Amino acid sequence: MNRIILGNCLDTLVRLPDKSIDLLCTDPPYGIGISKRGQIGTGRPFTPKRWDTSAPPKAYFDEMRRVSKAQIIWGGNYFANMLPASRCWLVWWKNDGLPCHTFADCEIAWTSFDKNAQVFNSRWRGFVRDSKEPRVGHPTQKALEVMKWCIASFSKPGDTVIDPFLGSGTTAVAAKLLGRNFIGVEQDEEYVAMARQRLRHVNDNHANDNRRKA
Ligand SMILES: C[S@@+](CC[C@H](N)C(=O)[O-])C[C@H]1O[C@@H](n2cnc3c(N)ncnc32)[C@H](O)[C@@H]1O
Repeated sequence: MNRIILGNCLDTLVRLPDKSIDLLCTDPPYGIGISKRGQIGTGRPFTPKRWDTSAPPKAYFDEMRRVSKAQIIWGGNYFANMLPASRCWLVWWKNDGLPCHTFADCEIAWTSFDKNAQVFNSRWRGFVRDSKEPRVGHPTQKALEVMKWCIASFSKPGDTVIDPFLGSGTTAVAAKLLGRNFIGVEQDEEYVAMARQRLRHVNDNHANDNRRKA
């Protein structure tokens, strides 16, 4: 069940039966041109690419909602015209308490849940980062803690989580660490290699932990 697929996610989504996935947790291109820049903030340089020139068309959102029982879609503010109204928005609060006009205070995710809106605090501004996860060279690598929070709060062990816009694999790593099955789809070979490498580290660390315990 755990797999990373190289290709256009629509090709994978259309083959999945209705509501066959427990949780869809993803971070699609926002259409703001970030991937063309070559460097963001204090992150290390990355290969400029063109995947963020536009947001995915509505057909992608319709398929994501068809195949899964529940959805968390980061950057939901960019896709509000393609999604129904929701009261349960998630907020990743990145502020370190200091006034700052360079970085955003937060990122927000649309969800399908009929629950109160929720906030998670993990500082992420320039060099000020609570996340200790190394940057692997993807321009929009999400904080691992944020994806772990989403998956831990909205799924249970043994569930299957899909991320059709996997990037460097953060959702798959979070799912694996939390005992969920995962399917990740990513169209770019370089990013697929990053995701596979990160998952290998998770496997190696598990094996080392088990050896230490034995
Ligand atoms: C915002 S990034 C995801 C970053 C990810 N959350 C991470 O932590 O690395 C969106 C990703 O979607 C991929 N992508 C864009 N369109 C796609 C498509 N139609 N099918 C599969 N992947 C796609 C891009 O190559 C990019 O890596």
